[in-house]
Amino acid sequence: MEPNAPVYFTRGNPATDALPIDDFRECADAVFKEQGRVLFQYGHYSGYGLLRQWIADWLKVDYEQVLLGNSSMEFLTFAAGLFLKRGDPVFLENPSYDRAITAMKRADADVVGIPLEPDGIDMAAFEAALKIKPPKLFYIVPDFQNPSGVTTGVAKRKRIAELAKAHEFLILEDAPYRFLRYRGEHPPTFRELVPDNTLHISSFSKIMSPGVRVGILIGPPDIMPKLHKWSEDTYIHPALVTEGIVYEYCRRGLLAPNIEKLRALYQPRMDCILQMLETNMGDAEYIKPEGGFFLSVTLPDTVDGRALQENAEKFGIVLSDGSGFFTDGKGDNFVRLPFCGLSEEEIEIGIQRLAKAIAHYTA
Ligand SMILES: Cc1ncc(COP(=O)(O)O)c(C=O)c1O
Repeated sequence: MEPNAPVYFTRGNPATDALPIDDFRECADAVFKEQGRVLFQYGHYSGYGLLRQWIADWLKVDYEQVLLGNSSMEFLTFAAGLFLKRGDPVFLENPSYDRAITAMKRADADVVGIPLEPDGIDMAAFEAALKIKPPKLFYIVPDFQNPSGVTTGVAKRKRIAELAKAHEFLILEDAPYRFLRYRGEHPPTFRELVPDNTLHISSFSKIMSPGVRVGILIGPPDIMPKLHKWSEDTYIHPALVTEGIVYEYCRRGLLAPNIEKLRALYQPRMDCILQMLETNMGDAEYIKPEGGFFLSVTLPDTVDGRALQENAEKFGIVLSDGSGFFTDGKGDNFVRLPFCGLSEEEIEIGIQRLAKAIAHYTA
């Protein structure tokens, strides 16, 4: 990297060099020849049928349980629009994915943040909030959470699943990073633990390409008709052209090796940032993930986190505003560190610069 170039610890982008562009060109050519008359015409409101069927077979669910959309972000707005009325409680991990917080606030829901611990939400706080009023939705990113890197442990998953049944709320399980596990075992999904109470969303953004904007929602059979109808009333149907290319890519068996390739690329980057934090972070607490795109550092109170975030560029790093990830905006000392889109050299230099900036703003 250029010596004076800043290191961007901002967006959770996949590595640009890993986008399978040549494969997409071949897939597009083949599928447009075969299926162009379907893909370039109006289509079904639930998305391209061949891709829905491929996903149903892959994830072992019924075809009718699969809804395709223009990215998983869109499903957050669908869920908020369909299930939340003004003032309805919605629970989120605190911190949480900033765009999910925005989607829930836009629906005028009563957003309740449940503090996050290194193995998932604080269960005592969750149960106390349930006693006040159970939510309509509980939004959770259980695997390698954006922004913290936390994975919810098995015991907490099971208890949350029991509580969802007992208090009849829906779990909105957002799992875009699940397939990017670099070590350790997969805990069960909420979709597996409590399928009747779970809307499971994910997308091809992190395992193939975000530019295709293809999202996947899997839900209980009794709820799906409402979601299919919501989709139709929103945009008639999602974009079929990219769904066709994604289908052809999957049909050719290219997805599984691509995920392997990404794991092999990202694991050393995760190990590198963990190593750098161990040597440079002093008193700061940080999450040690086993996969995904992010980890996070919580700075001690002796650090003026607001000044650090606002002046980071003077130290050659660009940070996201930590407070955006908190339902109550109290995240001045929270630093999200995406690592997948950075080379090991950038990570090493970036963490050294971050350590310098922290030292500068420590009282
Ligand atoms: C937790 C989470 N959910 C949803 C999204 C949005 O992904 P998509 O590209 O599928 O809209 C992201 C993207 O970073 C994310 O981190």
